Amino acid sequence: MTPARRILIVGGDSAIGAAAAARLEADGHDVWSSTRRPGTDHPFLDLATFGSPATSLPDVDMAIIAAAIARLGACAEDPAATTAVNVTGTLHLARHLAERGTRVLFLSSDKVFDGCVAHRPRQDRAAPETEYGRQKALAEAGIRALGPRGAILRLAKVLGPGEPLLVDWTRALRQGREIQPFADMYLAPVPRDLVAETLAAIVAGGGGGVYQLSGREEVSYGELASRLARRLGVSADLVRPRAADPHQFPFEARPRHSTLDMTREAREFALAPPGIDETLNALVGGLNGRADRLG
Ligand SMILES: NC(=O)c1ccc[n+]([C@@H]2O[C@H](COP(=O)([O-])OP(=O)(O)OC[C@H]3O[C@@H](n4cnc5c(N)ncnc54)[C@H](OP(=O)(O)O)[C@@H]3O)[C@@H](O)[C@H]2O)c1
Repeated sequence: MTPARRILIVGGDSAIGAAAAARLEADGHDVWSSTRRPGTDHPFLDLATFGSPATSLPDVDMAIIAAAIARLGACAEDPAATTAVNVTGTLHLARHLAERGTRVLFLSSDKVFDGCVAHRPRQDRAAPETEYGRQKALAEAGIRALGPRGAILRLAKVLGPGEPLLVDWTRALRQGREIQPFADMYLAPVPRDLVAETLAAIVAGGGGGVYQLSGREEVSYGELASRLARRLGVSADLVRPRAADPHQFPFEARPRHSTLDMTREAREFALAPPGIDETLNALVGGLNGRADRLG
C-alpha cells in the first residue's frame, strides 16, 4: 500500500490531468488540481504569467505538470507565445517547486523524436521535427537539470472516450455513413486510463528520469477506423481511407513511427504496451454512450 501523498496536478482541466486526479484520489492521495478558470476554489495557475504576482500553491510532495498548449498547429503558428507557456513558464514553475522540495513529473511526448525509429529507446538524443516537439525537448532538458527531483513521462497519442474524432466516426458508422480517415498518418495510441495508471505507478515508485508509454503497434488512422468498424459490428466498407492534405498536415507532423521502448516500465511496473484492439476495447463503451448523446 502506497503512503498517501500530497499531489498537485498542474492543469487539472486537461483531459489527462483530470483522469490522473481521479485515479490518484481513488488511490487515497490528497490531490489539488490547478486551473486558470475563474469561479472555482481550485488553486489558480496560468503558466503564461506564473510568478507575477506570486501564485499561491499548496505545499505538496509531488506535482504533475499536465498543462500545456498541446496542439502542433498552435505551436507552429505562434512559437513565441507557446514557448512562453510550454518552456519558460513550465520551467519557471518546475524550478520553484523543486526548490521547495517537491518532486516534479512533466508530461512530454514522442514528438521529441523524429519518428524514424520504432520502439524508440529513451536515451536517444532528442531530434524533434515540429515546433511542439522542440518545445517539449527544451522543457525536458530543464526538467532533467532538476536532478532526482525531476521525472518525465513521454506519451504517444492518448485516446479517451470523449475523443471527438472517434465519437464522430462511431456516430457516422452506426448511422451507415462513410468515413474517410487518413491512410498515411499513423499512431500508436494508449487509453487515457492507462496513462492515469502509469502516473499512479510513478507516484508510488518514487523514481526519476524518463518513463515512456505508447501502444504496442503503429497503425494508420484508416486501419484504426477499420478496427473500430469491426468492433462496432458494422461493415468495414464504410471506411474509405484517403491521403492527408499536406497543407493541413505537413509531412513532419505525421511521423511514421511513434512507439516507444517500454522495457523500464515492464520491469518496474509490470506494464505492457497495449495493442490497438485492447485500446479500442477500453474506449468503445464510452464512445457508444457519447455518440448516442451527441447524435
Ligand atoms: N493527449 C495526447 O495525446 C498527448 C500525447 C503526448 C503528450 N501529451 C501531453 O500531456 C499533457 C496533457 O495533455 P492533454 O491532451 O490532456 O491536454 P489538453 O486536454 O489539451 O489540456 C491542456 C490543458 O493545458 C491548459 N493550459 C493551456 N495553457 C495554459 C496556461 N498558460 N497556463 C495553465 N494552463 C494552461 C489548458 O487550460 P484550459 O482548460 O483553461 O484551456 C488545458 O486544461 C500535455 O503536456 C500534452 O502535451 C498529450
